[in-house]
Amino acid sequence: MATERTLSIIKPDAVAKNAIGDIIARFEHAGLRVVAAKMLHLSEDKAGGFYAEHKERPFFNDLVGFMTSGPVVVQVLEGEDAIAKNRDLMGATNPKEAAAGTIRADFAETIDANAVHGSDSAESAEREISYFFGNDEICPR
Ligand code: PPS
Repeated sequence: MATERTLSIIKPDAVAKNAIGDIIARFEHAGLRVVAAKMLHLSEDKAGGFYAEHKERPFFNDLVGFMTSGPVVVQVLEGEDAIAKNRDLMGATNPKEAAAGTIRADFAETIDANAVHGSDSAESAEREISYFFGNDEICPR
């Protein structure tokens, strides 16, 4: 398996619950390394641009409203099979369908506020990482 990088966002609901440390511990215990991180309060433009592919979806305005409702923690995770591993740790998009022990099962209640985002493919990861981080902000280790 290849070493990969993926973009992870700890969303405003999880930040408000003071769950940043618990969530990052799950990444680290699974063998993923945080190689870049920052806390941001996203503007509507920044959140809308990030989710631009969902612009025509009925939930787009709610999603942007939620993502701008409070600070988020954005990080780059690196490790073997990092994209799929992060998605497994996160669980299903709808927390009600998320497997027991996943981040969304343990920290989220609704599909609107589902605790974390993770890139869904290598192409998304590359685009999403460069949306938030310059090369000089990533520290491979
Ligand atoms: S898709 O079709 O697979 O691309 O869509 P999906 O991954 O299910 O969802 C894309 C992002 O939209 C969020 N989402 C919602 N937000 C608010 N309300 C509703 N109903 C809703 N449904 C989906 C979902 O959490 C995804 O956000 P990210 O940050 O990518 O996980």
